[in-house]
Amino acid sequence: MIVCTNKNALLTALDTLKTQGKIIGFVPTMGALHAGHISLIHHSTAECNTTVASIFVNPVQFNNPADLQTYPRTLDADLELLEKNGCDVVFVPQVEDMYPEGTQNLEAYNFGTLETVMEGAFRPGHFNGVAVVVKRLFDLVQPDKAFFGNKDFQQVAIVRELVRRCMLPIEIVACPIVRQSDGLAMSSRNVRLSPEERTQAAKISQTLFAAQTLAQTEILQTVKQYVIDTINAVPELEVEYFDIVDNSTLQSISLWEDAEQAVGCVAVNVGAVRLIDNIAFMR
Ligand code: PAJ
Repeated sequence: MIVCTNKNALLTALDTLKTQGKIIGFVPTMGALHAGHISLIHHSTAECNTTVASIFVNPVQFNNPADLQTYPRTLDADLELLEKNGCDVVFVPQVEDMYPEGTQNLEAYNFGTLETVMEGAFRPGHFNGVAVVVKRLFDLVQPDKAFFGNKDFQQVAIVRELVRRCMLPIEIVACPIVRQSDGLAMSSRNVRLSPEERTQAAKISQTLFAAQTLAQTEILQTVKQYVIDTINAVPELEVEYFDIVDNSTLQSISLWEDAEQAVGCVAVNVGAVRLIDNIAFMR
């Protein structure tokens, strides 16, 4: 595995691979890697000849300075995991590599109603920061395919829209959520939970699964209220939002019939840690 710590090293490594006509798969991450990230590496190695990953804690997508400060960083373990799982090239830039002109006055994207709901509404500026870094990474790596997790369901929609608007010849592949054995969606932030909070956090996905069953027989409003009330009843858990939205527009629906595919998306504060999860409703 080639580790590139700056732009020039990355471009040199990629040049060689591109002249060999390799199909390049790309997995952007912020590190503190877990089985969810590694599943993306596996999807890429299965579909592409060469897999490039990036590890970069992108300061401009954090709307909460404390979250950026406490974001876990485990570079040595990350590199070991990537190598063991067949990653070919890893890009680990410094902030100056990605933002040579500084992190102020960045390009501004407008994703319309895709970014005015859920994470976009509760984390102002977050998706602009994601779009800025993903576009810059795409421009450097120029992958054929890029792999993203459905855990960040709204992020996938934003990245697809970015690719469409910029007319980038990149296929976006959305991969399933990887969960721990009690159902909790894997997240780099899970390590910040106390043992007590970690136990309670399992209730988030367990409630979403129960809601999936409830959705077979109940109207949408009943399911919505059930999720909010059940999670809020757990000590340590506080729902920031739960919404049931159309899979492609991400807009809230009020009847099951209003969407071909309805998805329930939740953000929950577990003590000082904010977690998100989602579930597709099969009816
Ligand atoms: P990060 O949170 O590190 O996640 C990197 C990728 O791993 C994302 O596509 C995310 O959806 C996926 N992922 C995280 N947990 C997962 C899980 N439990 N199952 C499946 N996939 C999972 O998302 C980001 O970084 C950043 O916003 C980034 C795209 C790198 C831009 O900075």
